[in-house]
Amino acid sequence: MSKEATLELEGKSYTLPTVTGTENEKAVDISSLRANSGYITLDEAYGNTGSCVSKITFIDGDKGILRYRGIPIEELADKSNFVETAYLIIYGNLPTRAQLKTFSDLLTENSFLPENMKFHFEGFPSTAHPMAILSAMINAASCFDEKVMRWQWGKVKEFEAIAAKLISQTRTIAAYSYRKSHGLPLIYPKKAYKFTENFLHMMFSMPYEDYEIKPEIAKALDLIFLLHADHEQNCSTSTVRMVASSQANLFASCSAGVCALWGPLHGGANQAVLEMLDEIHKTGDDGSKFIAAAKDKNSGKKLMGFGHRVYKNYDPRAKIIKKSCDEVLTKLHISDPLLDIAKHLEEAALKDSYFVERKLYPNVDFYSGIIMRAIGIPVEMFPVMFAIGRMPGWIANYKEIMDEPKSRICRPRQIYNGAALNHYVPIEGRK
Ligand code: SDX
Repeated sequence: MSKEATLELEGKSYTLPTVTGTENEKAVDISSLRANSGYITLDEAYGNTGSCVSKITFIDGDKGILRYRGIPIEELADKSNFVETAYLIIYGNLPTRAQLKTFSDLLTENSFLPENMKFHFEGFPSTAHPMAILSAMINAASCFDEKVMRWQWGKVKEFEAIAAKLISQTRTIAAYSYRKSHGLPLIYPKKAYKFTENFLHMMFSMPYEDYEIKPEIAKALDLIFLLHADHEQNCSTSTVRMVASSQANLFASCSAGVCALWGPLHGGANQAVLEMLDEIHKTGDDGSKFIAAAKDKNSGKKLMGFGHRVYKNYDPRAKIIKKSCDEVLTKLHISDPLLDIAKHLEEAALKDSYFVERKLYPNVDFYSGIIMRAIGIPVEMFPVMFAIGRMPGWIANYKEIMDEPKSRICRPRQIYNGAALNHYVPIEGRK
C-alpha cells in the first residue's frame, strides 16, 4: 500500500510523502506543498499539526501511555528519581553510576546563585508572582555566565555543566523567591543534600534550625518533579523550541518556556485547581454546583485539572499522583477537605455525560496541588514546581534542535483576512 498521500487541488493532483513514527503514528509531510501548489495548511492551535520529529517522549492519548525515551512513566515513577530521569530525558539513556555521579555533582556545584544576584530579588514587590520572578531571574542568571552570554549555537562547550546549572539554579531561584516574598532570610543549599531535599531545605529551614526533611515528603515532591519532566510538544515546550530555533541561548529559551507554562490552561492549572477547590469548599458546595457551572459555556468556569489536548483517557500521571496523595496525607495524618472535594468532583464528572462524551479526565494538575499544599508550598508556587520539573524536558528539546544540523528557524505562515488594499488618509479627511 502506497506510503504517499495524494491531494487534489483545482483539478491538479499533488503527491505528498508520509512519515511513520516508532509507534506507528502517521503524518503527511507537507514541506513541498506550498512550493508546488501555492497552498498552505491551516490548523488553529495546531491540534493536528506535528512541529517536529522527536526522540524524547511518546504519548498515546487514547491509551493513556507516557514514556520518556521509551521507558513507561509508571516504571520510572516506581524505580527512578528526578535527577536520574532528568539525565535520561536530556541525554537519551539511563546514566551509568559514573555518569550519574558527574551529573549530580554538577547540580550540586551549580546550585548557588552569584552572590550579587540576591539584590535582584530586592527589586520585586513581595506580591510579585513567583513565575514572573523565575522567568526574569533565569535571564538575569545567564548574565553572570560568560559561556551563556557568548553562546555559540551548535558548538557549546560544557553543555552538560550549563544544563545542570540551569536545572539547579531554577530550584534555587524558586526557593529564594518564596523566602523573599515571606520576608525570610535566604537559606543556602547544602552539599550533603540530594536535589529535592535541598529544595525543601532552602524553602523551609531557618538560620537557627534546619527543616526536618521527612523522607515521604521528599519522595512525594521528587515524584512530582519526575512526572512533570517532559511531555512532547506542549505549549511551553513548543515555546522553548520556537525561541531555540532562532539560536537564542538555552537560558533565554527556557525563560520563555516559564512564561508559556504560567497560563491557567497549562502549568498554571495546578494553582487554578486549588483555587477552584477552595472556592467550592468555602461556598459549602459539594461540587455539584461547580460541575453544573463548568458545563455551562456562559459561566466562564472550567473544571480545572480536567481535560487534555492529547489524553482522551486518564492521564497516567494523574493516577500516580492521586495514589501518592493518599499515601502522603495518610503518613502525615492530614485529612484535607479539599482532597475529599477533589475525589467527589472526579467521581461525579466521570459519570457525567458532558465529560464522558468529551473524554475529559483528570490531568496531571488535578491532584498535584493537594500534595504540595500538604507539604506547605503556597499555591502561587505550584506553577514554579511544574517549571522545576519541566526544565529537563525543555533542555532536552533545546538540545535536540541544536544537535540537528538541518534545524531551521520556526516561522509559521498565516492566511490574511484583513482589509484589502487601501491608502493613507490625512487626519483632516478622516471621519
Ligand atoms: C497541562 O499539552 C500538554 O501536554 C500539557 C501538560 C504538560 O504536561 O505539559 O499535560 C500540562 O497543561 C495539562 C492541562 C492543564 N489545564 C487544565 O486543567 C485547564 C482545564 N482544561 C481545559 O482548559 C482544556 O481541557 C485544555 C486546555 C487542557 C485542553 O483544551 P483543548 O484541547 O483546546 O480542548 P477544548 O477546550 O477545545 O475542549 C473540548 C470541549 C469543549 O466543549 P465543546 O466546545 O466541545 O462543547 O471540552 C470542553 C470544552 O468546553 N472542555 C471542558 C474542559 N476542558 C475541555 N469543559 C469544562 N471543563 C474543562 N476542564
